Amino acid sequence: MKLFSKKEIDQVRLGVEALCKGNLVVFPTETVYGLGADALNPTAISRVYQIKNRPKKHPLIVHLVSDQYLKEWATHIPDYAFKLADDFWPGPLTLILEKNKATKDFATGSQNKVALRVPNNPIAIDLLREFSNRGGLGIAAPSVNRFGEVTATTIEVIRNEFAQLLSNEDIIIDGGQSQIGIESTIIDCTNEFPVVLRPGWVTTEMIQNSVGLSLDKSSFKINTRHSGAFKSHYKPRAKVYLDVTPKQGYGFYALSKFQTPSGVIRLGAPKSIEEYAHNLYLALSDADRLNIEIVSIFSPQGNGLANAIRDRLNKASNK
Ligand code: TXA
Ligand code: MG
Repeated sequence: MKLFSKKEIDQVRLGVEALCKGNLVVFPTETVYGLGADALNPTAISRVYQIKNRPKKHPLIVHLVSDQYLKEWATHIPDYAFKLADDFWPGPLTLILEKNKATKDFATGSQNKVALRVPNNPIAIDLLREFSNRGGLGIAAPSVNRFGEVTATTIEVIRNEFAQLLSNEDIIIDGGQSQIGIESTIIDCTNEFPVVLRPGWVTTEMIQNSVGLSLDKSSFKINTRHSGAFKSHYKPRAKVYLDVTPKQGYGFYALSKFQTPSGVIRLGAPKSIEEYAHNLYLALSDADRLNIEIVSIFSPQGNGLANAIRDRLNKASNK
């Protein structure tokens, strides 16, 4: 169990106070930072949409302190979803389930399904636990970014790019750089077979092994508004070129085995796929901070996390 510093205890306490008053809390999760609101408070949630400039029908993920809260939000939960929750929560996996009668439309972008996740970050868990002690049932939290732009994974990026959109009553909790660095895997659990809507750290193979079901029959045919459905997303102001040799003045992000041509600004040289994901959004934010106009990125090869990274890169580079 993690021992909290006084600063962290104070930040969590202030965060819970803010949530209870209908204000917003930026908090760390293991994937990326979240912009949190009491999932039962329509005014607070409406501010999240306004601040992010997010389309009203694009639903949010409700973060829970444990799977014991699943039934507060969802109904007709298939056995395989319980298995996934059991195997991967707390962790970087979001389950899309049929919403129950008590779940309000404002928490689901008016869809009949709700997105639920138990995050695996000690500050997030503490925040959720203290909030549930005060009667909270969940924290609705999208990633910290304006709609379509790069997601924040550090407190510095949040202070420079995002904090001015918040009010004085909102709270930002510093949890250091996000461990994983890209958003959770999203699985639609409203069909006979699980369907991957957004790839992430939890891979298709891990899901198949967990539930003992093949995902082969599933496809992206599902008609919901998930980020996988957007061709363009996670975009910096700089243009992103994929797998193109960088020229003079370009920013460059690639595994460390690739050398930096002269006159090129290296934005990161991760040694592993994990480090690649961990630093990717920071590199894109750095490009904008340095007013770089074009960034060349060498996408990683292979399956699993590399596949999730390529999903983000394809959207970041889409014109
Ligand atoms: O790692 C993460 O998932 C982070 C951290 C903060 O938990 N959150 C995150 O939230 O990435 P956001 O809002 O940026 O992305 C949530 C995705 C959206 O693409 C949304 O469409 C999808 O979840 N989603 C939410 N509810 C859904 C639903 N009922 N059906 C389909 N997709 C849904
Ligand atoms: Mg997002």
